[in-house]
Amino acid sequence: MQKLSKKTEHFTDSVIRRMTRIAYQYDSINLSQGFPDFAPPEMLLKRLGETAEMSGVHQYSITFGDPEFRRALAEKQSRFMGMDIDPETEITVTCGSTEAMMSSVLTVADPGDKVVIFSPFYENYGADTILSGAEPVYVPLIPPDFHFFDPEVLEDAFRQHPKAMILCNPSNPTGKVFTREELECIASLAIKYDTYVITDEVYEHIIYEPYRHTYIASLPGMRERTLSCSSLSKTYSITGWRIGYVIAPPEITECVKKVHDFLTVGAPHPLQIRSLSICTLTNATSSLKVSMILV
Ligand SMILES: Cc1ncc(COP(=O)(O)O)c(C=O)c1O
Repeated sequence: MQKLSKKTEHFTDSVIRRMTRIAYQYDSINLSQGFPDFAPPEMLLKRLGETAEMSGVHQYSITFGDPEFRRALAEKQSRFMGMDIDPETEITVTCGSTEAMMSSVLTVADPGDKVVIFSPFYENYGADTILSGAEPVYVPLIPPDFHFFDPEVLEDAFRQHPKAMILCNPSNPTGKVFTREELECIASLAIKYDTYVITDEVYEHIIYEPYRHTYIASLPGMRERTLSCSSLSKTYSITGWRIGYVIAPPEITECVKKVHDFLTVGAPHPLQIRSLSICTLTNATSSLKVSMILV
């Protein structure tokens, strides 16, 4: 038999999933997988059954997302990100942030390109990069506050002319929330070295005082080079629904849509329809304390 692909030799199966299996096996507390510790919004669950009776939602949605869901999401994210997002040209609905990130890295990186990743990092970023044929360049975050320590060290990574940087903010596994100043430093390097930034912001709304979440896409000169990935998984405690998205400028979104279509076709249509109600409800509230407002 011929050998399987070389790509698959350069990463292991998920250590998070492996630890989860072991935790189940020994009936121990599973601290390895990111399950929110609050229930999904009650009204969301109550109305889940109604979706079964609806016509037209049991087939593929438009591949890049149900139009009504995209409209509600655009309204919510425009408000939180402080930018006007066009639901037609700037949003791709994906199967979680997991697929959003994979589609984004595949959109941006070619084989041989370099991708800067802060370390410690959420395990998917290494695999996403390797599956795209690119090479990760790791930059350490230094405890206890997981600052990147010396901007010179970060600039050394940018001097290798990476195609992209992956930025998890707020960060898993460190819990770090990048300050505006730190993001401005990253942004200035991304602009100087003409590098795309692919964010993973699944914890954007799970923030505790005194920290504030700043979207790097909202900083001057960044919108055009940022692919903002996130999902409803953690915010609404619906990790099993697999509803995520990429927000990016129209020229980039055109390409993300193509990659996404061939990876998964689309996120679950009935669950996009149900998720509409939480985005709409979030739009109606002035601030997002989701676990408190909705549970
Ligand atoms: C940083 C980070 N990104 C992405 C994910 C997966 O998100 P999703 O369910 O949207 O695919 C997780 C899950 O633990 C995570 O911690």
